Amino acid sequence: MIPASVIEDLKFRNNIEDVIGAYVPLKRAGSNLKACCPFHSEKTPSFTVYTGEGGHFYCFGCGAGGDVISFIMRIENLDYVPALHFLADRCGMTLPEDDVRPGGVTRTRVLEMNLAAARFFREWLSGPEGAQGRAYLSGRGLSGGVIKRFGLGFAPDSFHALRDHLRSAGYTDEEMAEGYLCQRSRKDAKNLYDCFRGRVMFPIIDVAGNVIAFGGRVLGDGQPKYLNSGDTPAFKKSKNLFALNYAKNYASKGLILCEGYMDVISLHAAGFQNAVATLGTAITPEQARLMKKYTDKVVVSYDSDEAGQRAADKALRLLDAAGIEAKVLNIPGAKDPDEYIKRYGAESFSKVLSGSRAPFDYKIETTLRKFDVTKPEQKVRAARTLCAAIAEISSRVERDIYAEQTAKALDMDAKSIKMEVEGILKRKAAAYRKEQRTQIFRQTAGTADRINPDRVRQPTSGALEQMVLGMMLAFPEYIEKISRENLLTEDDFFTNLNKRLFEKIMECQGAGGFDFAMLSQFFTQDEVSAAAGYAAARRRLSDNGDGVFLDAVKRLRQEAERIRERENCTEDDLKRLIERRRARQ
Ligand code: UTP
Ligand code: MN
Repeated sequence: MIPASVIEDLKFRNNIEDVIGAYVPLKRAGSNLKACCPFHSEKTPSFTVYTGEGGHFYCFGCGAGGDVISFIMRIENLDYVPALHFLADRCGMTLPEDDVRPGGVTRTRVLEMNLAAARFFREWLSGPEGAQGRAYLSGRGLSGGVIKRFGLGFAPDSFHALRDHLRSAGYTDEEMAEGYLCQRSRKDAKNLYDCFRGRVMFPIIDVAGNVIAFGGRVLGDGQPKYLNSGDTPAFKKSKNLFALNYAKNYASKGLILCEGYMDVISLHAAGFQNAVATLGTAITPEQARLMKKYTDKVVVSYDSDEAGQRAADKALRLLDAAGIEAKVLNIPGAKDPDEYIKRYGAESFSKVLSGSRAPFDYKIETTLRKFDVTKPEQKVRAARTLCAAIAEISSRVERDIYAEQTAKALDMDAKSIKMEVEGILKRKAAAYRKEQRTQIFRQTAGTADRINPDRVRQPTSGALEQMVLGMMLAFPEYIEKISRENLLTEDDFFTNLNKRLFEKIMECQGAGGFDFAMLSQFFTQDEVSAAAGYAAARRRLSDNGDGVFLDAVKRLRQEAERIRERENCTEDDLKRLIERRRARQ
């Protein structure tokens, strides 16, 4: 465990305002700071940063919360210890070497194991039994140089080849299973076998050069066509992009976003080294933000079939929301960029690329193709489709330009198009405010119950527990006070999460001092967020003095006494209790 003094030092040198301010613009609001939450999309800021007392953040919209370390864990997609290293690097500090977490595979181990597996797959591809894989790749037009550059490999058609190799390299069955390289047989959990068999292997490499996951393609027509690693401590498919490790160095002229691994490899081989792909899923907001780190311009180059074009439409909207200027590429005469390049060559692709249309031109074109606007009723539907698309655009100036363009294309009055758009925007704003309200309500009333379900059964105790924990977390002097004066024990807590929180806080306090950051080692992000929510709820109130605290502690103890009595009493006791209550009423 990393000692409290080191964490304290780390937090002192990584001022929460500066760290979070580098990701979202913070505005002062009283003694706190506010911003639009980086973890969910919102238009009015409900993400609050408290700079006092060690520094915390909490979003009243989505309930994400914690300290500077949990912020980095969330936004950079890192585990606890890597997040500490990230912040240490940021301020030039060295941490004591110790990243062993109790139970479970660590990020470091997954990365080492993946590297060993990538080497194993590569050796098979070049070895005597890799002929099938080599034939497949050369059949798809890949040269030796490209295969090497992307570190492609071959997983032999065997159930135990990789498993035995990794076992002899010292990896445990648990690590292999949690790292998604092997899986346990459903009939016999002791029987572990390789996930990837008889497949061409595409390592997925992050911007730091780590092999974080794999995609594997069947050689023929088998199912699934591509098999991908699941999420591990080193990998979240929603937060990474294939080939970004290379593309980031060519991103100044913009990125090309594709659907498939093979599209990206073909593009790189043809000199378009700024191509990336999502990892078997539709693009996510995190991926859009990841791209935004490297460029403001993205060309979406998806498959030309209807599904691909619909997905491209969605991608445009997401990229626009991330502040990226996005265009869509239409590739005539081929099903995907890979096929296009093979058929028509790099120069031709380059021409299509420079002619890639602004999204709205493209939207008008597809809409006009879809509807027969000589018929009034279809013209109305076309107008509605386009107005809805205009309403998605955040800039007013752009909206006006597109409204005029739409009017021209449909031979209508620009004023009525603009009015229709205004109407949609108003309805959206109202729906948004309503959603905001329910979210906040859910947050304050409901979510805590989802993460700490016992609260429903013990509402009085639960509320008092939250109040006491909130004060302890917001004002650490109360932790000292409890420990010094022995005011409470874990037996005074009756809801599972709160009991565990109290236990851990006191345990850390006893072992050299507690810091909020330590919670991230023992609790899930949702649980840490709930804890940050307790603290945020207290900070919103003006009186957090000793009197309030001691009163809450006293009431919590009394409630505990009452619950214990109720649990221990016999049926006779219970009857007497009820009668006494009735008599009092
Ligand atoms: P495509 O089916 O368009 O594949 O899926 P592709 O890249 O053109 O593949 P080739 O050219 O036939 O080899 C696009 C992407 O969707 C994911 C993969 O990331 C793939 O690159 N995918 C597809 C899966 O994850 N699983 C599948 O079974 C199929
Ligand atoms: Mn393809």
